[in-house]
Amino acid sequence: MAQPHGRRVLSGIQPSGKLHLGNYFGALRQYIELQDRGEEPFYFVANYHALTSIQDREQLRRNTWDVVLDMLALGLDPERATIFLQSDVPEVCELTWLLSVVTPLSLLEKAHSYKDKLARGLAPNHGLFAYPVLMAADILAYDSEIVPVGQDQKQHLEITRDLAQRFNQAFGREVFALPDAYIVESTAVVPGVDGQKMSKSYGNTIELFLPEKALRKRVSAIVTDSTPVEAPKDPEACNVYALLRLFLDDEQAADWAQRYRAGGLGYGEVKQALAEAILAAFAPARERRRKLEADPDTVRDVLRDGAARAREIAARTVARARDAAGIV
Ligand code: ADP
Ligand code: TRP
Repeated sequence: MAQPHGRRVLSGIQPSGKLHLGNYFGALRQYIELQDRGEEPFYFVANYHALTSIQDREQLRRNTWDVVLDMLALGLDPERATIFLQSDVPEVCELTWLLSVVTPLSLLEKAHSYKDKLARGLAPNHGLFAYPVLMAADILAYDSEIVPVGQDQKQHLEITRDLAQRFNQAFGREVFALPDAYIVESTAVVPGVDGQKMSKSYGNTIELFLPEKALRKRVSAIVTDSTPVEAPKDPEACNVYALLRLFLDDEQAADWAQRYRAGGLGYGEVKQALAEAILAAFAPARERRRKLEADPDTVRDVLRDGAARAREIAARTVARARDAAGIV
């Protein structure tokens, strides 16, 4: 059962591929902390959002399932968190429409994520343009108080607050409460194997649940400079150190940094230590994922229960919004 006194936390994750180290340190870890602190979290897989860019039935189905398994394996606990698929709550689509009538086009034209996608040459569909309105509906449907998101989503939160206010004002009722962003800033950007920000769109990720052999291979592919083994090295300039650092306490990190500066440390040895650290840190999660994979019925039950809880709340919100707007 969800904690009765926690604050309503909500976040969504797009099923754009298997989760990677950046997703874990930048998002999932904080989701789990909020759950463990006794808040009342709602976490969902944003498959309607993903449909704006993935238009391949099998790929979307597979990705959606993978992200659900990843989330559960990492420790999101259906006893304490409501875990569901966005598409299992069709009420959010209705709410998207109700919000869209108070959404100025100029607000959406200014959205960074939309502009970035245009700049990358994506042919924009209406869904991509309206993406922030659907996200606002997600957030407002569940009377969310706290929305943990990365820095890149901050503007979407501002749009959400703006739309909530516009709706309340247009229809003269306090239909929506204004949510607060909880910007996840505790972790620096996790670098990918090429040193750029780790991201599915750059093809530079280290997936959390790669089989051991593939994981070791991926880690050994991390780009390093060609400083010879004997030479002193700068840990702060090294991608492998930046990744290993995520698994170390301050004392261990200082030890490694000292070894870098002393010379005589090869990148191969640090890579090996990183692979071991990843395997050790996620060993319990890997085991849980294996079990979940073998037990799809349990996973389907989790999603069914989550959807039922989420729908009940969303239906009440939509009823309020319809009533305020005079939809009878
Ligand atoms: P991707 O860039 O791989 O498509 P998403 O944009 O779907 O990842 O990110 C999902 C969540 O993971 C977001 O909250 C985002 O801030 C976080 N995240 C993704 N990549 C990183 C990274 N390299 N470092 C820190 N956080 C990240
Ligand atoms: N747009 C978010 C992302 O790409 C995912 C998302 C969809 C979301 N709906 C949300 C996040 C509601 C928080 C709240 O990361």
